[in-house]
Amino acid sequence: MHADIVVLPGDGIGPEVTAAAVDVLQAVARRYSHRFTLHEHLIGGAAIDATGTPLPDATLAAARDADAVLLGAVGGPKWSDPNAAVRPEQGLLAIRKALGLYANLRPTRPHSAAIGASPIKPHLLAGVDLLVVRELTGGIYFGERTRTETSASDLCSYTVAEIERVVRRACLLARGRRGHVTSVDKANVLETSRLWRDVATRIARDEFPDITLEHQLVDSMAMHLLSKPRAFDVIVTENMFGDILTDEASMLAGSLGLLPSASLGDGSVGMYEPIHGSAPDIAGQGIANPYGTILSAALLLRYSLGLSMEAGCIEQAVDSALEDGVFSADLAAGGDARSTREVTAAVLERIETTCQVAELRD
Ligand code: NAD
Ligand code: IPM
Ligand code: MN
Repeated sequence: MHADIVVLPGDGIGPEVTAAAVDVLQAVARRYSHRFTLHEHLIGGAAIDATGTPLPDATLAAARDADAVLLGAVGGPKWSDPNAAVRPEQGLLAIRKALGLYANLRPTRPHSAAIGASPIKPHLLAGVDLLVVRELTGGIYFGERTRTETSASDLCSYTVAEIERVVRRACLLARGRRGHVTSVDKANVLETSRLWRDVATRIARDEFPDITLEHQLVDSMAMHLLSKPRAFDVIVTENMFGDILTDEASMLAGSLGLLPSASLGDGSVGMYEPIHGSAPDIAGQGIANPYGTILSAALLLRYSLGLSMEAGCIEQAVDSALEDGVFSADLAAGGDARSTREVTAAVLERIETTCQVAELRD
């Protein structure tokens, strides 16, 4: 097949990890006789520097026209002045909103070979396989903001429709997994959470009688996620809780650099990005962990292009590289650390040698 993929490298380690994922996508294209045309565009700080805005019109137009979007990361100290008029992160929020990407899927499945990198005890990690579905286009991220000399406020609001669609998406995904959904809120304090809980309860009861839904308050959830991670299957939650809980969940896998994500809407183009940021502390050194972005490319193939065999090929290649101890510095715990390029080369090599090629197609 032919696909147009927009690549938004962004800032910091963004260009380093997207370059790795692009190499992997091209290797998959060669192996399975597809043609992926990559279109690189500006976003974030790089876009501010070049055009004055973090999401240029040309970037959004290209994304809308594409079959899928692959993004690295945005932000960094250069653009972090609290009084700055424009910020890289605004570009990311704007593209998510403009493309209607309300469901952000963030899977975590610790790999046994990388368990040494996790601060959690190994016996708690065996069999952990969870999927956080983070609401991505609503809540406090998009409410009205005010700032005066003496106060500031960020409004958190949700509509019934916004909650319905993301809970529905989480329940559908749970159907293909273990049929269990944990809805996370702060219903003991927040009105938006009480609405969230009511809507989630109704959707599960009326539309998904086959799914088990439980509710969990976000503070104790932060604790349970580490003390009994195996207890969870699909976790659905609002925008900011999902942001925080998934960085926490990355510690089950061993590093923030391992986790991929898929941002999906209804019929719109999907966007794929690692969950980590631009990592200014290691940017430019060639040591960033590219696995999260490479695994995001796998999700791109699966969800936007319908290429599940090819997605599985990338996931197998990553599994095999980890199995063989191909660790970037964040995973190596002081041991033998590979550069971004070396990790990528190990994945590319395994794509050539281990992925099975079925019948040729056009
Ligand atoms: P971060 O995720 O960039 O980094 C947190 C820590 O994890 C750092 O020590 C970093 O070196 C490490 N890390 C992250 N990804 C890694 C990788 N692939 N390999 C090895 N180590 C990795 O979070 P931060 O430092 O809080 O934020 C830095 C900037 O990134 C901020 O400007 C923030 O707004 C932005 N950010 C962007 C995104 C995004 O574009 N999606 C996500 C999160 C943060
Ligand atoms: C993420 C990031 C973003 C978010 C920031 C950079 C806007 O932390 O993708 O997880 O909070 O959504
Ligand atoms: Mn985040």
